[in-house]
Amino acid sequence: MESLQIPIAFYAIIAILTFFFLSWVRRKPLPPGPMGWPIIGNMLMMDQLTHRGLARLAEKYGGILHLKMGFSHTIAVSSPEMARIILQEKDNIFANRPATIAITYLTYNGVDLAFANYGPFWRQMRKLCVMKLFSRKRAESWDSVRDEVDTMVKATAINSGTPVNLGELVFGLTHDIIYRAAFGSISHEGKEEFIRILQEYTKLFGAFNLADFIPFLGFIDPAGLNTRLPAARAALDGFIDKIIDEHLRKGKKTGDEGLDNDMVDEMLAFYSEEGKVNEGGDLQNAINLTRDNIKAIIMDVMFGGTETVASAIEWAMTELMHTPEALKRVQQEMANVVGLDRRVEESDLEKLTYFKCVIKETLRLHPPIPVLLHQSSEATEVSGYHIPKGTRVMVNAYAINRDKNSWEDPDTFNPSRFLQNGAPDFRGSNYEFLPFGSGRRSCPGMQLGLYAMEMAVAHLLHCFTWELPDGMKPSEIDMGDVFGLTAPKAIRLVAVPTPRLLCPLY
Ligand code: HEM
Repeated sequence: MESLQIPIAFYAIIAILTFFFLSWVRRKPLPPGPMGWPIIGNMLMMDQLTHRGLARLAEKYGGILHLKMGFSHTIAVSSPEMARIILQEKDNIFANRPATIAITYLTYNGVDLAFANYGPFWRQMRKLCVMKLFSRKRAESWDSVRDEVDTMVKATAINSGTPVNLGELVFGLTHDIIYRAAFGSISHEGKEEFIRILQEYTKLFGAFNLADFIPFLGFIDPAGLNTRLPAARAALDGFIDKIIDEHLRKGKKTGDEGLDNDMVDEMLAFYSEEGKVNEGGDLQNAINLTRDNIKAIIMDVMFGGTETVASAIEWAMTELMHTPEALKRVQQEMANVVGLDRRVEESDLEKLTYFKCVIKETLRLHPPIPVLLHQSSEATEVSGYHIPKGTRVMVNAYAINRDKNSWEDPDTFNPSRFLQNGAPDFRGSNYEFLPFGSGRRSCPGMQLGLYAMEMAVAHLLHCFTWELPDGMKPSEIDMGDVFGLTAPKAIRLVAVPTPRLLCPLY
């Protein structure tokens, strides 16, 4: 009997090995890409993982390319067709987010929306954000846009005739809008401290950490992340705990569709010491939020809603100053449609056809989030290539929005292209135009973001004429950007405003 068991075990091992060998042989190849080194793979090319660097690599390797960063697989997607496969056809497989060690720590283990993996928890967070926090029904956010735009117009008018740093102006504007929408504080008390915390978070999100790619080398920590991460989270804890306590003390009737509820009020309607998320049922019975959830979601809103909108506004003004014919045309349209005897209002926006094209063309050339980060939850095939489970996916919206096969003269700022019948729209079903992404993980704050962008640009254009300082020519404007979570202008736009309306501005 014993003598029979040995050959059976032997054949079983041979069968298993053959099975694995055949599935390895039959497996499709990885997408093309530059050769890497043993262990570190393509890590020496780290500095090329920007929207521009990846666009250059795509010219050589095509719409889908593969890189090995240490032990992890990465693919970069740079053509509309490949983006369609990732964000629509295989959306369920690519709906996870890749989280670095820093992101996992700073989002309290992904208990937010933006970095949570796809699943029941993410679905309920998404419902909470779409139906409650970012909903048009929550008037406070929309009021804060109008009020803060008014404040910006006033500050600009006071400085008329002198050079205004438009970049700083609009970054201040969006911080004020989101700060008030989130915390309800009109006084902006504590805002400076909060901005300092945000800046440290931004640095930590972007910091290179060897342990993300080669886990056993985690002890090498040149950026000091092991001490900076706990310090940053402790600072945020202290800041938001105080705000939560104040809101709890105020005892506002939360969750009663209160029109002046801020986002913290709204989330406290779901507050409990112990978190709970169930599938189905109404939102109120399905979710309990802990303090960590509330803090993590606040950070999503801060990151999702400030730099994105501010860089879009600054780019719109920059492209118009760089293209005087377009600036003249859009201001003429405003004079014709709105008139010079009053300020522009929300109800005017739909009638400003060319203005809407300016907004779209800005988002095409400068998508505020230039690279969308996704991750595969299982092994799959894309366009005949094997994509292993856990692959990081970088959808290069910047390269796609400038795809030569989809856009005529793709690098030129030409708002009129959107006047044509059948011009692509940014709501997620035209894969050559992805400023807000597409599919399950697309932007839930699009309506609020667009509203803030349109109101700010419309007021800057309608209330003032703009000149470049010191006789500078449009062609001399620096059009470079910097790569981070967003891609704002590298050098701030400075221009001189002069009031343009016949009515007082404040
Ligand atoms: C012009 C303004 C904005 C642009 C261009 C923009 C763009 C985007 C993009 C491209 C994504 C990722 C899509 C993907 O991965 O496929 C995203 C996600 C997100 N955005 Fe926005 N965004 C804007 C404004 C806002 C605002 C105002 C908020 C909140 C108040 C916001 C909150 C978020 C959140 C929470 C996510 C993560 C969603 C998820 O992972 O499920 N965004 N946004």
